[in-house]
Amino acid sequence: MQLALCTESATRVQRSSLLSAAWGLPCAALALSLLSHPTQGAQTAVAQMEVLPLRGAISLYDKACVRCHGPGGSFYGSELGKGKTAAQLRKMVWEMCIAQGGLTVSQREIDAMTAYHRSIMKSEPFVEVIAITAKSITGEATPGTTVQLETRGRLAPVSIIENRWIATLDTSKPITIIATLNGKTCRLPVGLGKFTLHQP
Ligand code: HEC
Repeated sequence: MQLALCTESATRVQRSSLLSAAWGLPCAALALSLLSHPTQGAQTAVAQMEVLPLRGAISLYDKACVRCHGPGGSFYGSELGKGKTAAQLRKMVWEMCIAQGGLTVSQREIDAMTAYHRSIMKSEPFVEVIAITAKSITGEATPGTTVQLETRGRLAPVSIIENRWIATLDTSKPITIIATLNGKTCRLPVGLGKFTLHQP
């Protein structure tokens, strides 16, 4: 296993601040619309609070692990997880989160981070749902993944920036995510906090 060079993490930081700037735009638009509709402001603010996104596994990895294990786990090499049972891999991820990563993590987050590692081992797409509102759904996916959302036989348009995707659609109907990377396709029925490769 190689360790990350400092320059690598510096580039990452720059790129992620650009990314947050891009995601800041819709928030600015929302703030403006709140100002122009003072009577509805309080209600909208409450709705906005209810849809605070969960912390996605890829964001957590990029925050706490990328400096040693590389973008997308590129420094792990082919030995990642070799000889480890599913439970041992999960334990390793958990310990790394707490010790080297300095994170406080929930059981769900450990499961999602373990699944993300499984996707790296299998070169399969990792997809996670981190927020759902009445009209939109947001999540994370391995960069380079083609993400499609299927609802009642139709595909909804999806915008992707790096590892973040968002789709605008009626979320009261059943939705399935179809994710393709390296010629491998995963399907995930939509639910808040759900992710692919939950099982080995
Ligand atoms: C300060 C550097 C550092 C950071 C940060 C770090 N790790 Fe590690 N990690 C290591 C080293 C060194 C090893 C190999 C030695 C060992 O097995 O204990 C390792 C091993 C691992 C392994 C086993 C790899 C294999 O080949 O099976 C996993 C999984 C792992 N780390 C996950 C993580 C996760 C998840 C995070 C973030 C929460 C993280 N690490 C953060 C240094 C780091």
